[in-house]
Amino acid sequence: MHYYNRALSSTYQSSGRGVAVKYTQGEWEGELGTDRITIPQGPSGTITINIATILTSEGFFLPGINWQGILGLAYPLLARPDPSVEPFFNSVVKQTGIPDVFSLQMCGAGVSASTTADPAGGSLIMGGVEPTLYQGSVWYTPILEEWYYQVEVLKLEVGAQNLNLDCKEYNSDKAIVDSGTTLLRLPGNVFSAVVEAILQTSLIDDFSAGFFEGTKLACWMKGESPWSLFPKISIYLRATNTSQSFRITILPQLYVQPVTDIDGTFDCFRFGITSSANALVIGATVMEGFYVIFDRALKRVGFAVSTCAESGGVPFAEIAGPFLAEGVASDCTSGMPLREPVMWVIAYALMGICALVLIVLLILLMLPCQRHRDGEITDESSLVRHRIK
Ligand SMILES: *[C@@H]1O[C@H](CO)[C@@H](O)[C@H](O)[C@H]1NC(C)=O
Repeated sequence: MHYYNRALSSTYQSSGRGVAVKYTQGEWEGELGTDRITIPQGPSGTITINIATILTSEGFFLPGINWQGILGLAYPLLARPDPSVEPFFNSVVKQTGIPDVFSLQMCGAGVSASTTADPAGGSLIMGGVEPTLYQGSVWYTPILEEWYYQVEVLKLEVGAQNLNLDCKEYNSDKAIVDSGTTLLRLPGNVFSAVVEAILQTSLIDDFSAGFFEGTKLACWMKGESPWSLFPKISIYLRATNTSQSFRITILPQLYVQPVTDIDGTFDCFRFGITSSANALVIGATVMEGFYVIFDRALKRVGFAVSTCAESGGVPFAEIAGPFLAEGVASDCTSGMPLREPVMWVIAYALMGICALVLIVLLILLMLPCQRHRDGEITDESSLVRHRIK
């Protein structure tokens, strides 16, 4: 296993700044610097980039995992320690002049998902779109805010059944496309509704709750694939023509995921969807069905059916549109995608109001308190007197 070793790099320059990053799972700490790199089979030329040397980590390099590091592809607003640290892809675009577009074909569908080994491959295309990685047409959804790749979800369907929730529920408090998230994550209410709908639609009646909670695997006799028992799931996204939408559909082959063999007679599967307290995340579970184009130049994310997500010519994903977005509120984001500075102003204003209310409360409490104390003192003294008696 090879790791980046700054001591062996003649072009590494330390910036002397520390950096610490916590994820939903795992964390690491290290030191910031810059180095000069070239990307084989990538944009030509040598590029100076920010690089963090990981010095300590916890729950990050899991046993048997083949990672050598992590490459963040989000916008500067999410950079650590702060947005002044130019992210990798920003540096690449600036210094090579390639278009501000990258695209991902993640090929994991149908491959046993284990918590450690990471067998599946994929492609990261920098500077554009590679036509051999998808089939059919590309549908684009606007990027609402440039931090995560935040998009707007208008509707969810399980089978052909509309969940019929207020569309703001699908975007609470944000909906994002994130290759760094393993599963499809859904806000609590949405998750419950999806599980409910799957239970109604699926042909399985005696299903232990543990499967949907992610604490239990579901197993079938070897070769007895369970996928025909589960419904398709569709996510409707706002189209670039904002009065229209399109839908991305995942088949159960993507969200009922085989896990590494643990038993000779059974094939076991995990549920590739989980609940989230703060976001709808279109993670790898969904992305593995699509070729996903992060078109930062035109502030939009494109989806097309991936060439690596199929079995025997049957694709695990579908895409269709346009649909009329009428009848759906013109904005499903409920004013939540506030820009950070606005958020801070509101936060400070609220803190100020809280402080004022507290002071007023304290003053109000002090006055009657003193009166009570006067009364209590006499009561106490009488009590004491009783005891003495
Ligand atoms: C946008 O979609 C609406 C509804 O389908 C359609 O009437 C309109 O012509 C479209 N606009 C453009 C510019 O394509």
